Amino acid sequence: MSRTPLVLGNWKLNLTRAGARTWCASFRALAEAEPLPRGVAIGVAPTFTSLDAAREGCAGLPVLLGAQNLHWEPSGAFTGEISAEMLREAGVTHAIVGHSERRHVFGESDERIGRKVAAAREAGLVPILCVGETEDEREAGRTEEVIEAQLRRGLARTAPRSGAELVLAYEPVWAIGTGKVALPGQVEEAHGFLRSVLAAATAPGLASEVRILYGGSVNAGNAAGLIRLPEVDGFLVGGASLDPAGFRRILEAAAAG
Ligand code: PGA
Repeated sequence: MSRTPLVLGNWKLNLTRAGARTWCASFRALAEAEPLPRGVAIGVAPTFTSLDAAREGCAGLPVLLGAQNLHWEPSGAFTGEISAEMLREAGVTHAIVGHSERRHVFGESDERIGRKVAAAREAGLVPILCVGETEDEREAGRTEEVIEAQLRRGLARTAPRSGAELVLAYEPVWAIGTGKVALPGQVEEAHGFLRSVLAAATAPGLASEVRILYGGSVNAGNAAGLIRLPEVDGFLVGGASLDPAGFRRILEAAAAG
């Protein structure tokens, strides 16, 4: 089964509206100098206030717009939150759900993450469900138990019917923002395991269609090696996505893989 790789830049709490415009202008100049690689889906996930700046700045370029988070209710008394429909209206097509910073810094539970995945799907957004173990959990030999529970609970309230309706991201917590990329064997093992859980938990045939991204210290230097792993279908890129030239090199690696 061939899956078109997806590379999504997660800008996190970086790039103001002006910063997003500058990023898009640089990315456009690179694309004009040399066409963007084919065979890779490209996206960025700016902060909420930079969504329209990125959408306008990257207009005409094949760049999907992602959100970093969303709330599970469509409207109501939820100060500080944003709904899937509001994001869709802003041009968003993909939503990161359950990122490790949401889980560990903001205390998001699997139950809430499951509600968010369902809310994204109901509004027609593609959820990018993130799972990953901490260093302690890996050292205790609990990696599979942890990521299986995150995956099953994340999908508890939704039943995707095709591989286009869901993306998974395996992001070991100890590899995020640390420069400590997971070893190829660890990545392949975790991705293969997640696909087997997906096969057991979702409609027949779906597991082989769903893209499983790797995230955690991906950069222009290590992307080529990672994309060669058969179970790696692209990347969620944090720090290295803030530099348009470096991001572009990751896209090239993903397309060549
Ligand atoms: P990083 O972040 O590439 O900076 O490690 C990845 C992520 O958090 O999605």
